[in-house]
Formats: sequence, structure tokens, C-alpha cells
Amino acid sequence: MDGSLIALEQIADDGFAEVEATVDGAAESVIVHRRGDSVRAWLNVCPHAGRRLDYAPGQFLKSKEGLLVCAVHGATFELGAGECVAGPCKGDHLRAVPVAVRDGHVVLEDHAPDAAAVRTAG
Ligand code: FES
Repeated sequence: MDGSLIALEQIADDGFAEVEATVDGAAESVIVHRRGDSVRAWLNVCPHAGRRLDYAPGQFLKSKEGLLVCAVHGATFELGAGECVAGPCKGDHLRAVPVAVRDGHVVLEDHAPDAAAVRTAG
């Protein structure tokens, strides 16, 4: 399917995947978290030292409470707003990437600029 980052069924329920996506014109590594039929996504960039959170591509650590743990220095993130709730960057947030599920695939939410908003002056 066009625009598919990954099929939903390729992500275990309550699990994570890492995908490559173009976000704001740049190729980025993105963390996708599945809960049932819904997904959330964030840039795979830790607000602490800017490193990737996975220890190998797509391999993310999860605390026993089910929180996402950065493999580098252990910053721990809740999976709603992506807020760091423990560790060296407590209070900071992962940068959310808007995604949706369409026809069983995870896709980026459309952020096409509104053509009507582009006007020539004069
Ligand atoms: S880079 Fe993630 S905790 Fe330091």
C-alpha cells in the first residue's frame, strides 16, 4: 500500500517497531508503538543526548511497568505523550510523529499544506 510505513500486524500488540520515514522533508528513524488497533509514533531521538533509543535496529527496551527505556542511559518514557518520567532528561518529551492506521497499515498523517492558503501578494 502506498505510504505504508509498516503493516500493523508486523508489530506485536504492545510492542515497538522502528521504521524509516520522511518527516518534515528529512529521512528519520521513527519509533512506532502498537496498542491494539491504534498506534503512536515518535522520532527515534532521545531528548537526553540525541541518540537512538534502540540498542539494535527495532530492538527497544521496556521496563516492567511497560514503559519505553532508552538503551543508552536509561531515560524512561511513558507511551502517551512520550514524556520522560525517569532518568537524565526527566520532564522532556520525545517528538511525536503523527500517524494513523489505514487499511491495516501504519501511515503518516497527512500534513499537506493547504493550497488555498498559498496566495501571491498583490
Ligand atoms: S541518550 Fe537516551 S538516556 Fe541518554
